[in-house]
Amino acid sequence: MEIKKSGANYSAIVSIGEKLKKMSSETGLEYLYLNRGINAVVNIDLSNIIPLIDFNSTDIQVYPPNNGREQLRNAINTEFFQNTINSDDLFVVGGGMNGLKLITEVIDVEKIYISKLFWGAYTNVMKVNNVDFAHYENFEELQNNIENLKGSAVIICDPNNPVGNKYDDEMLLKLAKELSENDVTVIWDSPYRRLFMDESDDFYSKLAKLENIIIVESFSKSVGLSGQRVGFVYTGNKDFNHEFKIHLLYTTNGINAFSQLLIEKILTTDVGRVVASDFKEKTVEDISKNIKYLKENNFLAQRFYTNSVPVGIFVIVNKTFDELMEKRIGSVSLPYFTTLPKEEAEKYSRICVSVPHEKFKSFFDKFLS
Ligand SMILES: Cc1ncc(COP(=O)(O)O)c(C=O)c1O
Repeated sequence: MEIKKSGANYSAIVSIGEKLKKMSSETGLEYLYLNRGINAVVNIDLSNIIPLIDFNSTDIQVYPPNNGREQLRNAINTEFFQNTINSDDLFVVGGGMNGLKLITEVIDVEKIYISKLFWGAYTNVMKVNNVDFAHYENFEELQNNIENLKGSAVIICDPNNPVGNKYDDEMLLKLAKELSENDVTVIWDSPYRRLFMDESDDFYSKLAKLENIIIVESFSKSVGLSGQRVGFVYTGNKDFNHEFKIHLLYTTNGINAFSQLLIEKILTTDVGRVVASDFKEKTVEDISKNIKYLKENNFLAQRFYTNSVPVGIFVIVNKTFDELMEKRIGSVSLPYFTTLPKEEAEKYSRICVSVPHEKFKSFFDKFLS
């Protein structure tokens, strides 16, 4: 059988996780899985949400509408955009990865630019879709190079994966506006942002006013439901939306109705709002304690946080993958996320700081004793 080879790699993070689990079961010792990209301080408590869902209804048992349930799209409009956009321009997708895959299939651009410190999946999605890509050094470089970026697209992720740093919103908005006005498509992929914010955050409403903007979001991180595979894509561009809905249909045939209903209940009911805000509060509290601990004990790789603040859910530490592994801490070596020379990057690792603080501290204290 002949196959088309994309040249993309299977996720390194998935295989590191599989290896760690095997080592843990072979040795019987506990490992701290900071290689993962999920919030693991607490689970979101769904026990009072599930009874609100009627499983014996057509809402669940038949095909969902192609663009996503209308009630969910309206709830997203309220929660993320203060009802300032047209819900018909929103598409429910199977998480951010699915959204990004479809976006890069549909837009016709010369190249897609991604940060020099980037989520590894970006390059693989583009290889699978046969889209040309290149890297930008930092936001200043984008700003100074706008002329050369005309006809291309730029992906912005803030707080960033892998760095976990956050830049100033006013600066980001100004940059996105200038890019958009100069015919550069901005793909806004920031699934970690809303973990730290609630529905009063009007950043997306401001972004949505730009002409060349595509926002992709996910419920995997902000409410910890990566297992449900739900996210959304928004742009006001009619041509894009016309083509996008065709790609969405022939890729997914609609997104799982149960998971859409679940997210809808979280966004629209009193009990849903309480559990979501509880989840965010507890998660952010331990993330902040973990980052403070890393800073105080000089584990944080300061060179990556010069003009920005570390907020999580990831950070970069100045320990190698092997040094962390010796203390049974799982991580991902930085070369997986950067174009920096390998011998320089492998001095650092990306760790997830969204785990219970006491456990986190007990593993890192081993370096201090
Ligand atoms: C920067 C970034 N974008 C998008 C995603 C997509 O997540 P999901 O497909 O679960 O929504 C991730 C997941 O790790 C991510 O780190």
